Amino acid sequence: MRPDFVPSHIADPDIRPLLIAGAHGTLGRAFGRICHTRGLVIAALGREELDVTSPVVVEKTLDSLRPWAVVNAAGYVRVDEAENNAGDCFRENATGPSVLATACAARGLPFLTFSSDLVFDGQQQEPYTESSKPNPLNVYGRSKLAAEQRVLAVHPQALVVRTSAFFSGWDEFNFVHFAMQAARAGQRFEAADDVRISPTYVPDLVNTALDLLLDEANGIWHVTNEGACTWAELARMAAQRAGLSPDFVVPRPMADFGLPATRPAQSVLVSERGMILPSLDDALSRCVSEMERHFALPA
Ligand SMILES: NC(=O)c1ccc[n+]([C@@H]2O[C@H](COP(=O)([O-])OP(=O)(O)OC[C@H]3O[C@@H](n4cnc5c(N)ncnc54)[C@H](OP(=O)(O)O)[C@@H]3O)[C@@H](O)[C@H]2O)c1
Repeated sequence: MRPDFVPSHIADPDIRPLLIAGAHGTLGRAFGRICHTRGLVIAALGREELDVTSPVVVEKTLDSLRPWAVVNAAGYVRVDEAENNAGDCFRENATGPSVLATACAARGLPFLTFSSDLVFDGQQQEPYTESSKPNPLNVYGRSKLAAEQRVLAVHPQALVVRTSAFFSGWDEFNFVHFAMQAARAGQRFEAADDVRISPTYVPDLVNTALDLLLDEANGIWHVTNEGACTWAELARMAAQRAGLSPDFVVPRPMADFGLPATRPAQSVLVSERGMILPSLDDALSRCVSEMERHFALPA
């Protein structure tokens, strides 16, 4: 299956697709796969076909494809590079969503976009709910908060899903995959043990976000797997799900990594709107099985 395709039958004027922007990234490809499994017709467009920051391109695309809703899976996710590249980060994370939201609002189309736990500063002890007060500590977080505000200002019925720390068995560019490779190769793996997060299994996120879209939900929703941990605990838990020793993990303070962007000490998300996803344990077990099927991990 090629999940990133535009099916030829959407030329049929009776079939309106779900438009996925940013279709070649981690989230966009997962939408492609899951929509295919769920029998949803999609138009999945990457940056070269649909630059979300261009109002002219966005409007032309919406008018020619006539989607029933638009999902924005595009974004600038290089949190550390963003510190020296605020222009690109804000263009892709804030201008892009607001261009899409404006075009959707003008056509009465539902719009789904994704925000981040990094809109919070980590100062409170309890997990963050949808109504907690954001106060981002870095450029990326500020760009995501700007997006939330701009999108909901121009399209109050838009759906904004705040989520966090993706892991997936479908691609190699995530923390759990790196940890599993190190565990299997018997290598030491340094990971922060003083930052608490809500890891999110991408297939669970996509299925839940689609359900919310189909239910015509709107406003901000927190969508992560149930449970919280540090990065070091996440690496250990993943190895244990694969029957490997967790001793390969070397816990370190986040400050030792010398990363340019400041992270909150805790950015655990929970939902006060009744959203409950499978537990992190369950999601990690499914992820590890998926990885073993999908990638030839070192024995
Ligand atoms: N990854 C996480 O842990 C995480 C956590 C919380 C929230 N999120 C949010 O989830 C969303 C998707 O993240 P991801 O991890 O899937 O990112 P990703 O793998 O980097 O994918 C992002 C995609 O967006 C595309 N893109 C960037 N600018 C664009 C533009 N102007 N027009 C069209 N496409 C553009 C990128 O294309 P190029 O490759 O050409 O740049 C890339 O294919 C983002 O909004 C992110 O902030 C992610």
